[in-house]
Amino acid sequence: MSTRVYTLPVEQTRWRVDGGAETVFTWEYDEGRDRLLNLYEKGKSKQWNSRERIDWSIPVDKDNPIGGPEAYVPIYGSDIWDRMGQQDRNRLFHHMASWQFSQFLHGEQGALICASKIVQTVPDIDSKFYAATQVVDEARHVETYSRFLQEKLELAYPINQHLKALLDDVVTDSRWDMTYLGMQVLIEGLALAAFGLIRDIAENSLARAVNAYVMEDEARHVAFGRLALRDLYPQLSQRERDEREEFCVDACYLMRDRFLAEELWANLGLPVDECLEYVGTSEAQMQFRSLLFTRIVPTLKDIGLFGDRVRRAFGDMGVLGYSEVDLDTVMAADERAAGEIDAARQRQVDATIAAATA
Ligand SMILES: [Fe+2]
Ligand SMILES: [Fe+2]
Repeated sequence: MSTRVYTLPVEQTRWRVDGGAETVFTWEYDEGRDRLLNLYEKGKSKQWNSRERIDWSIPVDKDNPIGGPEAYVPIYGSDIWDRMGQQDRNRLFHHMASWQFSQFLHGEQGALICASKIVQTVPDIDSKFYAATQVVDEARHVETYSRFLQEKLELAYPINQHLKALLDDVVTDSRWDMTYLGMQVLIEGLALAAFGLIRDIAENSLARAVNAYVMEDEARHVAFGRLALRDLYPQLSQRERDEREEFCVDACYLMRDRFLAEELWANLGLPVDECLEYVGTSEAQMQFRSLLFTRIVPTLKDIGLFGDRVRRAFGDMGVLGYSEVDLDTVMAADERAAGEIDAARQRQVDATIAAATA
């Protein structure tokens, strides 16, 4: 993506991180674990081409890019919103979508880097195989979000400071499981929920397709994290598990706070404190932030990081109830949703051809 569309010059936000990880070779090429190899087969066969699968000719209205209801705006219903004229509201819709998709884009680049780091650091060959398919998936996701921002929104935001702090922790940690935990379970788990909200409320079919197709891949990535960590964590000492739980708790607060969108309000010249106060306490926004945890909570329970510390934090955030969500059911629904969009597009293509040849 050209950097012309950024709200800040790219030189001001350039970022280099010392990864400090150990690269591991393995000579055991035939040690396959069935479930991981199945996932690898699926990863290979489900590759898609962003240029072909997505209909990029669909127009996007900058005044409401995803075509969502007004209630979707975090400050909807506040005095600030009530005082705004239609033009300012349109501008807010445009900036909000570009802020949101920009964070998805930067998160996807983080995933690309983490997946390639997993290829290097994970000890077994079948995990290296699977992670290699994820590297390609993440490159496509970066390509797709970048194109959406560049061509359709013509505006992009730098990385959010909370997301950056979390990515920094994940990328600098040299332990391979921390890359999985931070990226595959926490960042991707939260991204899945956020993509899902857009997919389900978007009236714009391009915005819906982009998120649905990315989600179809992300479901495999989260499954990969679960498979790897479910085997490992029961073997760790209590102290090691505690340390990981503490990391999860800190990360969950960071991720929740990134959705307060501080820099968005500042960039639009709105009263930041007033916006944060409203977004932080509005019932609808609290509900929205809690929905972001629908994937993370059951996953942490599944991999065995669900001690007192984690349960207390989730209780405090009001998201403990999601521990009962059945992950396999929601992941299957994500795959179905992408398939339905493909089918609808195929019907449209068939109808166009039929009309042209009638
Ligand atoms: Fe991704
Ligand atoms: Fe991913």
